[in-house]
Amino acid sequence: MKMIKNTAMLVVLALFTPAISAETTDGLAAPATVEETASGICAGCHSADGNSVIPMNPILAGQHAEYITKQLIDFKATESAPAKRNSPVMSSMVAALSQDDMKKLGEYYAKQKTNPSQIASDADEKIIERGKILYHGGNIADGVPACASCHGPNGSGIPPRYPAVAGQHAEYTLTQLNLFNTGDRGNDNQVMQKVLTRMSGQDKRAVSAYISTMR
Ligand code: HEC
Ligand code: HEC
Repeated sequence: MKMIKNTAMLVVLALFTPAISAETTDGLAAPATVEETASGICAGCHSADGNSVIPMNPILAGQHAEYITKQLIDFKATESAPAKRNSPVMSSMVAALSQDDMKKLGEYYAKQKTNPSQIASDADEKIIERGKILYHGGNIADGVPACASCHGPNGSGIPPRYPAVAGQHAEYTLTQLNLFNTGDRGNDNQVMQKVLTRMSGQDKRAVSAYISTMR
């Protein structure tokens, strides 16, 4: 009976600790599967299948595995170096994850199907149209390259380096563009920072709105 109780406790602990393999105080390992981590920890903000319904939280479903794994690594500070990508929320989420956990989580979300019907754009048609032109052709006068050249004509990205962007929440995309622009997100080897140097706020909003409508 005592054994059963302990096992139940371990399951509870595993669900609320952001670690796939948690060492308990009495030295017993409580291995949680990637599904348990995703549904027990990540689901609260990204939904169990990665189709986050909260505009500030990115949709992870269908994103490339390598890109997700890279972001999880970048969110984690080590003893010798600060995190490459700042996010107080995500840095605590990844603190106890191993590289192997991060790899498995990447593969898990890459396999999930996107659910585009959940995303509705309330942006004006004209703004979306402006975003479409920018995405596919850039803005030659301002020296902004076409997003399509790296993120693909349909927004599905080019693995392993260039993430999929199609169907992402406009609010999340716009936040990231601003973070790259100010240098607060600096885990892109300055690629996105250069892209955005001369992009106006209006253009950033337009391209984010268009991206949310891409399927
Ligand atoms: C409390 C809410 C919350 C929880 C729980 C959470 N996340 Fe996040 N996650 C966020 C937010 C907010 C961001 C955007 C951070 C930023 O501002 O750049 C994010 C970003 C990410 C990204 C970057 C996506 C991209 O497109 O670049 C990944 C990958 C991710 N989370 C995976 C996870 C995983 C895996 C877990 C579970 C171990 C998890 N998250 C748990 C809120 C959360
Ligand atoms: C020269 C190649 C290149 C071009 C052009 C480019 N990007 Fe990117 N973009 C990248 C790379 C590389 C990353 C991933 C950085 C990382 O590893 O975190 C990225 C990341 C992003 C992200 C973050 C995705 C996420 O889930 O957090 C967004 C949003 C984005 N780009 C939008 C755009 C838009 C909009 C344009 C056009 C104005 C554009 N990009 C043009 C290379 C490019």
